[in-house]
Amino acid sequence: MELKDRLLTIAKEIPPGSYPVDVGTDHGYLPAYLVKQGIVSRALASDIGEGPLLAAKQHIEALSLSDRIELCLCDGLTGIDLSDKTHIVIAGMGGETISEILLRRHPLTQTLLLQPMTKVETLRRFLLKHGYRIEKEIPAYEEKKAYTVMLARYDGIVREGDDFFWTFGALPQSKKKEKYLYFQSLLSRLEKKQKGLQKAQTQERTELDRLAILIAKAKEYLQEELYDHHSGNL
Ligand SMILES: C[S@@+](CC[C@H](N)C(=O)[O-])C[C@H]1O[C@@H](n2cnc3c(N)ncnc32)[C@H](O)[C@@H]1O
Repeated sequence: MELKDRLLTIAKEIPPGSYPVDVGTDHGYLPAYLVKQGIVSRALASDIGEGPLLAAKQHIEALSLSDRIELCLCDGLTGIDLSDKTHIVIAGMGGETISEILLRRHPLTQTLLLQPMTKVETLRRFLLKHGYRIEKEIPAYEEKKAYTVMLARYDGIVREGDDFFWTFGALPQSKKKEKYLYFQSLLSRLEKKQKGLQKAQTQERTELDRLAILIAKAKEYLQEELYDHHSGNL
């Protein structure tokens, strides 16, 4: 079985022998892949919805993995025994929902792998404010959409961020092409917002100034960091 780039990017961050929890598993693709590939020997998959959890159950049964993947119908991490779990994956949800799920079991000492679909900035702010260090963000690109996967760990130190960090995150130097596409997609979103505000002749000067600074900085970054001037390639 194969995973597409978004879930595959997460799977690659889970080392052999781990015991992961996949919150909001839906069809259970990620834990099924991890166990089927022999990367982990067991996993726990949870979902708040009966329908998604049934889909996961059927998928896991079809692959004869029911004895190695435990299923839990629950809201977030509620009621889950985390004492022997090493990784918590929360993917494909909004940044606010992910933050709420984390807050209810705060502090979490497991490695967190988080892939927000929206409100990415909110999640970055939540993590830093609550003493989680975002060790890296790995860009993923799937079906013409760019995503970020955050790897965070709790160390209790509250960190500051700036506007550029809240917007673009802590993306590593590897996966240059995906990173370029991630930056491009954020940049075009910011430019669209800027045009909208300019068209509406808004009085929101501060927001327009903020956007102008971010856009200029992102363009500079794209040029300097991501474009290989020698080869002319990404
Ligand atoms: C879009 S799917 C993502 C599935 C998979 N994690 C992925 O990234 O492809 C979101 C899933 O999260 C579940 N979900 C939403 N809120 C949840 C919560 N508070 N606790 C557990 N699951 C939740 C939904 O029922 C749904 O199955």
